[in-house]
Amino acid sequence: MEKEKFYITTPIYYPSAEFHIGHCYTTIIADAIARYKRLTGYDVFFQTGTDEHGEKIEKKASEAGVTPKEYVDKIIANAKDLWEKLDITYDYFIRTTDKEHEEAVQKIFKKLYDQGDIYKGEYKGLYCVPCESFWTESQLVDGKCPDCGRDVKEVSEEAYFFKLSKYQDRLVDFYDRNPEFILPLSRKNEMLNNFIKPGLEDLCVSRTSFTWGVPVSFDTKHVVYVWIDALSNYITSLGYPDENSEKFKKYWPADIHLVGKEIVRFHTIIWPIMLMALGVELPKQVFGHGWLVLNGGERIAKSAGNYKDPREYINSYGVDAVRYYALREVSFGSDGVFTEEALINRTNTDLANTLGNLVNRTISMSHKYFDGIVLNPNVSEELDGELINSTLALKEKVEEKMNSLKVNEAIIEIMEVLKKCNKYIDDTMPWVLAKDESKKDRLATVLYNILESVRICSILLSPFIPTTSEKILEQLNTSKTSYDTVSNFGLLELNIKLNNPEVLFARIVKD
Ligand code: ME8
Ligand code: MG
Repeated sequence: MEKEKFYITTPIYYPSAEFHIGHCYTTIIADAIARYKRLTGYDVFFQTGTDEHGEKIEKKASEAGVTPKEYVDKIIANAKDLWEKLDITYDYFIRTTDKEHEEAVQKIFKKLYDQGDIYKGEYKGLYCVPCESFWTESQLVDGKCPDCGRDVKEVSEEAYFFKLSKYQDRLVDFYDRNPEFILPLSRKNEMLNNFIKPGLEDLCVSRTSFTWGVPVSFDTKHVVYVWIDALSNYITSLGYPDENSEKFKKYWPADIHLVGKEIVRFHTIIWPIMLMALGVELPKQVFGHGWLVLNGGERIAKSAGNYKDPREYINSYGVDAVRYYALREVSFGSDGVFTEEALINRTNTDLANTLGNLVNRTISMSHKYFDGIVLNPNVSEELDGELINSTLALKEKVEEKMNSLKVNEAIIEIMEVLKKCNKYIDDTMPWVLAKDESKKDRLATVLYNILESVRICSILLSPFIPTTSEKILEQLNTSKTSYDTVSNFGLLELNIKLNNPEVLFARIVKD
């Protein structure tokens, strides 16, 4: 049977400065969802990339004394290295400087112009350079950019405009017919109340004040301005405007565009209207997650420069500590505080204590009492049922949480079962059983139950902390590692010999 497809994207980030933990946050979550979908049998296409044009990058490059392309190439090499170190399994990395993309953008722009959806006019507006955003007077907060709080400047120039207003009613109708198009739901109300109800203004889609961009093919003193260039990445990578290309036919429409909350507006207003105008199907869902902020509430941002290279955290604490933190710490959709201390605490409590310690002591006891040989004489007691049943219930719980994108709750479910394993050890006290020769079979059964529960939890943890999951399954020396083995308790092979226990996470002690 042909696999069902699943197309998930991250935003394409601006390589105006090195990436930070906020970019890692989105990308790790997208990766975990992509891995989960692959694990559960989907044909996944997971895309990330970079949004490389614009005035800001032009400026930064000239300050650095290099060409814009040289400037972004260096940042992208670092970004790709970062994604590799974070075990990000993207299927495609799009750059808006890719020739195919640039050509496709020109065709899209021309088509919209030819059909009268783009027209030439004069742009007068208030512009925030760091955010690359235009604002109307009424959107400003105390006269400043509502996103970053800095000064905006007045600009006036000839420009092309995209008739968003023409599609307003169709957009609202689309929202009504697709109640899960924007998640969380609060963001949908924000879009309706703040942007749509006051009336959509036509969007400026070209600039003449800088040159680092895709030229408008029929009027080359203009370059395509940001959103038409950036948003179309999600289809140009699939071969659009060739709607018959294999990838486009197979993967479009996207299942999830995962984005930070500040760009939900572009993904749920401009992007659907662009697609309507092009006669292309709309994506199924845009999920706007919250921000990682510092202790005082300040957003971690490239323009604020308030961050370390995320590779420092990976080097100090390991890739899965960073992944786990991003996936577990914050309720998906809300803002969350990121500090190195919180990362350390989370690693210690969940990964070193609950998980690492459990695996280590169980495998050590198996070696101590049975030479590492897996046995199950089935000497059961009533309290086994609780552990077995909650382990067996896990697959469905995780599935339900992941399907509603509650990634942190999916992880909490798994951790709850691991805590139950720890409690089961406290209750059964294997070291006491070991002292009584007549309890040997009970002891073997107890260890089997824990090992089996750990096996199942490890498979379910593999989308989140893949390296650790693999290490555990390797220590268990089992071949029962596929997703379909998590619905059966008792598949861990008998008479195999466990590998030696190795510490998964050393407790981090901060000086
Ligand atoms: O907006 N917390 O690029 P960008 C969580 N090029 N996530 C964060 C974050 C934080 N503090 N800071 C950034 C752009 N992000 C455009 C996108 S898409 C067609 C074009 C993440 O480099 C989050 O996903 O400013 C946010 O939306 C994105 O990085 C912004 O990246
Ligand atoms: Mg930004």
